[in-house]
Amino acid sequence: MKATLSLDTHHHVGAIDRRIFSGFLEHLGRSVYEGAYDPGSPLADGDGFRTDVIAALAEMRMPLVRYPGGNFVSSYDWRDGVGPRATRPRRPDFAWRSVEPNTFGTDEFVRWCKKVGTAPMMAVNLGTLGAQQAGELVEYCNLGPGTYWADKRVANGALKPYAIKTWCLGNEMDGPWQAGHVPADEYARRADQAAKFMKGMDRTIEVIIAGSSGRGMATYMHYDRTLLEYTWNNIDYISAHRYSGNAGDSAHYLAEGVEIDRILDDYAGLLAYVRGVMPSDKQVYVSFDEWNVWYKNREADGRWTVAPHLLEEIYNFEDALICGQYLNSFIRHADSVKIACIAQLVNVIGPLMTRKDGLLVQSIYHPFVMLSANTAGRSLRTAIDSPTYKAGERGDVPMLDASVSHDDKTETACLSLINRDTERPLTVDVAFGDRKIAGVTQARVLSHRNLKAANQWDKKPVVTPRPANAKVTPGGGLRVSLPAPSMAVVCVKLAKR
Ligand code: AHR
Repeated sequence: MKATLSLDTHHHVGAIDRRIFSGFLEHLGRSVYEGAYDPGSPLADGDGFRTDVIAALAEMRMPLVRYPGGNFVSSYDWRDGVGPRATRPRRPDFAWRSVEPNTFGTDEFVRWCKKVGTAPMMAVNLGTLGAQQAGELVEYCNLGPGTYWADKRVANGALKPYAIKTWCLGNEMDGPWQAGHVPADEYARRADQAAKFMKGMDRTIEVIIAGSSGRGMATYMHYDRTLLEYTWNNIDYISAHRYSGNAGDSAHYLAEGVEIDRILDDYAGLLAYVRGVMPSDKQVYVSFDEWNVWYKNREADGRWTVAPHLLEEIYNFEDALICGQYLNSFIRHADSVKIACIAQLVNVIGPLMTRKDGLLVQSIYHPFVMLSANTAGRSLRTAIDSPTYKAGERGDVPMLDASVSHDDKTETACLSLINRDTERPLTVDVAFGDRKIAGVTQARVLSHRNLKAANQWDKKPVVTPRPANAKVTPGGGLRVSLPAPSMAVVCVKLAKR
């Protein structure tokens, strides 16, 4: 089968915010304990941080990592996690029925971020706590010495403020499962007060209001509209979350990009509407701060233990193609999505799994790294002419899903091409209307004949990128051959104008 992708470097959606390649670390299961922090492991450094995890995460080049939750944050008291370890309390964690030992807290997280080469994106508890404690956390993190909480940070070993710029106002407050869950208007007031108080402490910070936890919620969009209308002038982003699952029909599952586009279109429409009725010159953007595949392991009961095995999802090849489609969609919506966090990073619905003496790199790691390493500049409009395939209830869906970035400083473009059809290979002819392609600088493809193939402990990885078949044509176009199904990332150098 054949598809065409027509591009023009002048036809773009806007600059791609690199923060769409961010991540999420929650106190949940073995994510922090035994994942990021594992003092008992031979692979831990002097701080107790897993060096193999740090090295693999560094390759993901994440601008931000969101922390400490998630559902966890809504009953977490950050004050339990600072100061001498010996005096930190063990607490029951309401969200995951686990025991939180508090041996890893704010200061450890900031130190860990430095080692990973990322910056903290901090969430505050607006479930069981409020504006006061949220403001005090900003004081602890961002103020210079001279006040109570800032001096505590200094006493805990950090003279220089952490200068944390990005803050989440609670988490999924629309969900009945959330500690402190309240109707939209009540959360709107809580979040507005917290935003004002936090920004009063540090005028340079940006805040994210917690939008709907998913498109399946009965209050989806109504909830978000109420929040936006009340808090518009005091917030900077609204969050969106989605976890994808395969209900047993891979053709349907592999068209998941259609759903992701739809959610982003919903938010773009709502944001434009609220901006219009305010009326306001200000723009609020989307922070898609939880996204991933999650359907195989939903165990959420930690039975009051420390670091229980929860949400330990094993990812296969088809799951990786869904992750590629999330990233393609974020790139295509560069004008509205400024932050996105893969949820999560290690052991808990993560691209990485640990055991005491080793690390397993899962399939979903690869689309992230392939794109994070190569995406730069502006998102180009993708004019696609593609054959369709039967995607179950989703009907006829184009086989080709694509995103393209163009960096005018280096005159390179990075194309992310996914063939969603499980049966038919696809040849994609790419042409720039205004430029010729001078050469291919990188071409890698993720493919496997078995959709369920997964990397396993102590075995050679089977889902891992290989060289792709991508050639410049005599006319200065590009031809890429995509196996069925597959994801290719091809970087090209454009010829001089
Ligand atoms: O990432 C796992 C959980 O999913 C998060 O704690 C919560 O925000 C979402 O429901």
